[in-house]
Amino acid sequence: MKVLHEISEVRDARKQCKSTLGLVPTMGALHEGHLTLIRKSVEKCSQTIVSIFVNPTQFGPNEDYEKYPRTVEEDLKKCEAAGADYVFLPTNQVIYGTEKPLVTLNVDKEMTSILCGKSRPIHFNGVAQIVSILFNIAQPDVAFFGEKDYQQLTIIRKMVADLHFPLEIVGVPTVREESGLARSSRNRYLSEAELAVAPNIYKVMNIIKEKANSLHAKNETVPVETLENEAKKMISELVPGSKIDYFEIRSTNDLKRSENLAADSRIFTAVYVGTTRLIDNLYIGK
Ligand code: PAF
Repeated sequence: MKVLHEISEVRDARKQCKSTLGLVPTMGALHEGHLTLIRKSVEKCSQTIVSIFVNPTQFGPNEDYEKYPRTVEEDLKKCEAAGADYVFLPTNQVIYGTEKPLVTLNVDKEMTSILCGKSRPIHFNGVAQIVSILFNIAQPDVAFFGEKDYQQLTIIRKMVADLHFPLEIVGVPTVREESGLARSSRNRYLSEAELAVAPNIYKVMNIIKEKANSLHAKNETVPVETLENEAKKMISELVPGSKIDYFEIRSTNDLKRSENLAADSRIFTAVYVGTTRLIDNLYIGK
């Protein structure tokens, strides 16, 4: 496995790769979720490049950019063991230069004012910017993203279609701990007590899914707000010290809301457990 720091090195690697190149963009602090993305790429593509870059433009002023875990040495070992051919490890200077960019990307308010966008208004513009920069640098045939960040995945798919990026986006199902807790780099911020209660978020999501499915089996109309309120009450009780950012049921395809459960409904949630913000989602269908 080769570690690349410069754009010219990535471009050379791209030129040398005569068949499919897979890109796995990450911010490091790699866990089983990321390694699943890398393994998927290794399986599907002839060569795989992992990027590790904690992207400053997707963090708001009061978010955890400075504190975000940086574990490069361990990450490199994990990438190699998962079968990556290259790791791209750029500095801020390599990606953004020293001057303020004149052209940036703006994701439509329709997407950035809902779910995670509500409390992180600049986040998805920063994600769109860095992902498109990485696509332009590596020119992959396929890029892999986790379904855990479902809103991000939806926005990236639409961006690729809107801007005609010549590549395929593969979404990979969320990897969970045995307890059900979705793997996340931020789980390492959780104290033991918080780790013990955080899996209850996924438990509540499943209770709501089952309830929705059984009501639907009885041909009852299912107002999503009733289910959402029930879920919020359960989370407040089962996850002491938590603060719910949102718990919403929306369409899997376009993240739109409808009054009653739709054919492609999905649960989306973000909950602060202590000071750590955890997100998750679960398909419920109808
Ligand atoms: O999902 C992430 O880790 C980041 O948002 C991404 C896609 C690597 C862009 O910085």
